[in-house]
Amino acid sequence: MSEGSEWVRAVDSRSLKSGDMVDFDAPDGRQILIARIGDRIFATDRICTHAYADLSTGFMNEQEGTVTCPLHLSAFKLENGVPQNLPAKEPLRTYKVKIQDNSIYILL
Ligand code: FES
Repeated sequence: MSEGSEWVRAVDSRSLKSGDMVDFDAPDGRQILIARIGDRIFATDRICTHAYADLSTGFMNEQEGTVTCPLHLSAFKLENGVPQNLPAKEPLRTYKVKIQDNSIYILL
């Protein structure tokens, strides 16, 4: 854990069903995507690494564990942010997540 990291409450975990994605604006201005597949919850940066597109308006593939950018259709693995196809080449930053008292917390 890098110095200065802290757990930040994002959303109510009960509001996020499998296959759902939500956007979250962190207090420090970071734009985060939160996604759920089954019991697993993922948090990544929300803005595509290729150009400016908001991934929360893209498409999730639960089988593949990916989110696809709505602009040029690069798909990113939710667990590690790695792009699966061009044009994006840079991974999305990912964040640790925990659930506590029905809230999703993200380590920022
Ligand atoms: S903006 Fe996402 S692939 Fe181009």
